[in-house]
Amino acid sequence: MEGLRRLDYRGYDSWGVAVLDENVIKVEKQVGIVAKERPTLPETTIGIGHTRWATHGKVSVPNAHPHYSTDKSFVLCQNGIVENVEELKKELIKRGYEFFSETDTEVIVRLVEEKRKRAKSLEEAVRLAFNDLEGRNTIIVLADNGDIVAARNGSPLVLGLSKNEKELYFSSDVFSFAPHVEKILVLNNGDMVVCRDRAFTVFAIDTGKKLKPLFEKNLLKDVSVDKRGHPHFMEKEIEEAPFVIRQVVAEGDAKYKKLAAAIKKARTVYCIGSGTAGAAAAQTAYYLRTYGRINARELIGAEAHEYEPLIGKGDLLLAPSQSGETADVLEVLEHAKRKDASIASHVNMPGSMMTRMSDFAFMANAGPEICVMSTKIFVSQIAWGYLVAKAVEGKLAEGKKNLLETARTIEKMLANKDYVGKIKHLAQNLSKKEHIFLLGKGQNLQIIKEGMVKIIEGSYKHAHAIPAGDLKHYAITLMEEGVPVIVAISNDEVKAEVLNAVHETSARGASVIGLAPERHDAFEDYLHVPDTGETSAIATIIPFQLLAYHMAVTLGHNVDKPRNIAKSVTVK
Ligand code: BG6
Repeated sequence: MEGLRRLDYRGYDSWGVAVLDENVIKVEKQVGIVAKERPTLPETTIGIGHTRWATHGKVSVPNAHPHYSTDKSFVLCQNGIVENVEELKKELIKRGYEFFSETDTEVIVRLVEEKRKRAKSLEEAVRLAFNDLEGRNTIIVLADNGDIVAARNGSPLVLGLSKNEKELYFSSDVFSFAPHVEKILVLNNGDMVVCRDRAFTVFAIDTGKKLKPLFEKNLLKDVSVDKRGHPHFMEKEIEEAPFVIRQVVAEGDAKYKKLAAAIKKARTVYCIGSGTAGAAAAQTAYYLRTYGRINARELIGAEAHEYEPLIGKGDLLLAPSQSGETADVLEVLEHAKRKDASIASHVNMPGSMMTRMSDFAFMANAGPEICVMSTKIFVSQIAWGYLVAKAVEGKLAEGKKNLLETARTIEKMLANKDYVGKIKHLAQNLSKKEHIFLLGKGQNLQIIKEGMVKIIEGSYKHAHAIPAGDLKHYAITLMEEGVPVIVAISNDEVKAEVLNAVHETSARGASVIGLAPERHDAFEDYLHVPDTGETSAIATIIPFQLLAYHMAVTLGHNVDKPRNIAKSVTVK
């Protein structure tokens, strides 16, 4: 239960636990958040649990995991999506199997049952069934004789061993068991583990061959996660922006210069990410084009298919990611690796697959980010992107100096109670609106896109980021009396063009909120963003994050766990 609660931050809709009680498996499942009180299940020393984020089948108790085998001799939990589920299910129904849920998970259960008829052991049946699955899947099985079998192909799977080696943990996230274990074993795709009679063995799923487990130190053992007196993790994490920028600067010059040299030599440079990390990847590409004069391209993880045939030897992919386990991005990186391209990553969670497969692995060292809405990690990711570009430009020291100044500037912004109070007031007004528009260009184009993401995640309202130059081509039809337009302007080469767009909106009655170093007549409301030159975009994201935070609070939403989204999406 404690482990499932520590997975709370990842986002889910239902949960379940199975325990072994004298060779009988007892299960409790519920919809909603993991219960604070203890389930009505017997004491045990062996059990498995799961938090579900619905993919196949609605949010319901029957669809929650674990799922029983027909004879209740084993139960199974899954993270992933079985892409050939229809075909497998049709075949299993023909063989007389029944299904009590709408999930693809139960299809795996029946498949294991079918394989077991001819297999010499449970793990052999799991291995054979697993090899029939298409898609990225990770499963864990508990049998009524106490055996546990787990297999990974996609979603993360890690083992933890306590100091006295008397406690063994399996999980999708080190965080769930971090305080209890001394060392961890990250399973690779294609690995399977069998735990029997208090011992465990690692095998290759495709060959069944034994593998030597390579344990490593648990870096999260003493990492505490508390709100440090803040009402929400989001507010605390927004206020950690100066710290995470200093962490990016603290990384040694040699590492940046090594990556910069590889970028300059690369055939094509791609920057790839999903969600907020997708905006950070695009901002990194912008900095590489602007300061590195590198023709870098941005890719959204789930929308990169047509690039796959183009990616190959000599190419370099840069991937910012909080978790390092986002399936959309991992799939493209795995393809790139197979094609001999190189990978650079900037990740926050230790022990991730992305870090493992990287030729240039950077860690954010920003501490856990608990709120599902990414804030401090976005700041860390774009600060990293800027510094990598400055290293390519051959001005790494100047880049570090600019970032340290920006960290001090942001510190002053966050410490200014009137400033934050004003943002709170604007957020309360915006919370009454149904549609919110954001306008920006150049260094602020991805900032308004991420501002839009934050406002959508925090307020559940329709927000729309409009590239300033594109306004007149379509979005201007949406401009009318009273519609809120938040514009991000910096003292840069596109300032005048953005102001033109602002005038076009206010001429049609829009009420403009300006985020800028100076106030302009067309602004109805104004939030000062100090001019930090090349890094102005990094300072400009802070008021957007605070607006989203205060809108979420004003609207009474679950700030740290907005509905329907998850902290790390390990399914495609
Ligand atoms: C989403 C998160 O699920 O995944 C976003 O809600 C995040 O905050 C995105 O940016 C990508 O995740 P990651 O771990 O690759 O940064």
